Amino acid sequence: MKIWEDEKQIYIRAAMEANTPEENEALKAKLQAVDWSVLDHISRRETVNERGVFAPLAAVEVGEIEARREEFKELGLRAIRAGKVGAVLLAGGQGTRLGLDRPKGTMNIGIERELFLFEQLMRNLMDVTDEAGAYVPLYVMTSNINHDDTEAFFKEHEFFGYPEEHVKFFVQEMNPACDYEGRVYMESNTKAAMSPNGNGGWFGSMVRAGLLGDIRDRGIEWLNVFAVDNCLQRIADPLFVGATIAYGCESGAKVVRKATPDERVGVLCTEDGRPSIAEYYEMTEEMATARKENGDLLYGFGVILNYLFSEKKLEEIADARMPVHVVEKKIPYRGTDGSIVAPETPNGYKFETLVLDMVHMMKDCVPYEVVREREFAPIKNLHGVDSLDSARELMKGCGIEL
Ligand code: UTP
Repeated sequence: MKIWEDEKQIYIRAAMEANTPEENEALKAKLQAVDWSVLDHISRRETVNERGVFAPLAAVEVGEIEARREEFKELGLRAIRAGKVGAVLLAGGQGTRLGLDRPKGTMNIGIERELFLFEQLMRNLMDVTDEAGAYVPLYVMTSNINHDDTEAFFKEHEFFGYPEEHVKFFVQEMNPACDYEGRVYMESNTKAAMSPNGNGGWFGSMVRAGLLGDIRDRGIEWLNVFAVDNCLQRIADPLFVGATIAYGCESGAKVVRKATPDERVGVLCTEDGRPSIAEYYEMTEEMATARKENGDLLYGFGVILNYLFSEKKLEEIADARMPVHVVEKKIPYRGTDGSIVAPETPNGYKFETLVLDMVHMMKDCVPYEVVREREFAPIKNLHGVDSLDSARELMKGCGIEL
């Protein structure tokens, strides 16, 4: 059965009633190109996160990193100079919590002066490339919604001083969004509500965008994947790269020490013997509060969306299926009466794969401790926790003039 033949699909059907025959032909063609099987995940949403047995995973802590600083740094810089390290900026999200109508990276995070989030990230990257005396290719993931705007912004600002030939953009895929009953929302009478399919599909999207040739031609062996919204993000950090190489692991994850046992961060641990991330809501009280002999939390290190993956391994797992997370979000839609609704609270589901699930596909992973105040200032909201306000304070603490 075609999706528009299903009587349950009230939004699609109402839109079709309002359309001309030509509009409907065009709409049907678009609807036929969508993979509707993601909707099946609604009934499985309670089980998508069915987990194995968690166990703690010791982190490489700051003390050890300091003691081996020169060794790690040398290894990392050597890899960067040999062109073996690439970086992937995940910028396909919609930033709904911030309520922006432009890409998050275009946000001005300065106070007295203009400082764009993208600009700050490029500066962070250039700290490394200046020191290494070599460039790190940067791949920027966008979505259909923000691609043109993102690319134009980089061009308009002359790539913030980075050589254009080392920056490439690619677009992630989209999934339909629906209400709690699985009825697909329409964005307008001619367009279904589609949203980016999460940050987990980035490597597959790079492959589909034809970037594998570029990666191989350049001889990239490591990809450092990171979120757009952490303005203190260290990118292609030589110490992190060096530590992952020194430990002979396939991946590494930057982690921060949890502030409190109930802090809402995903914790790096093992699950059935492989590296994994336990979300805060998956931790039992006992797990969250268990301590080591020295008093530190047993599950004490949270991920900050900065990972290093072996490129070879990424190619191996490129076709593997990842868990699809069904997430409640605010989805603007065309009501059955033709009115456009902009909900104030979540009103349905989006379907996303997550980069953190990639960690579980790795044989091993180095949890690499970084100091929160130096490297973790995520901007998820305007005010309060993980906000523009808190990020500005943290940036000032790092001596960044705003
Ligand atoms: P978040 O999970 O914080 O989502 O993304 P978001 O879209 O930025 O913000 P909200 O939840 O709507 O408020 C974490 C990182 O993953 C990227 C984001 O751009 C950010 O760097 N991301 C997220 C993608 O690249 N694609 C996606 O589909 C989702």
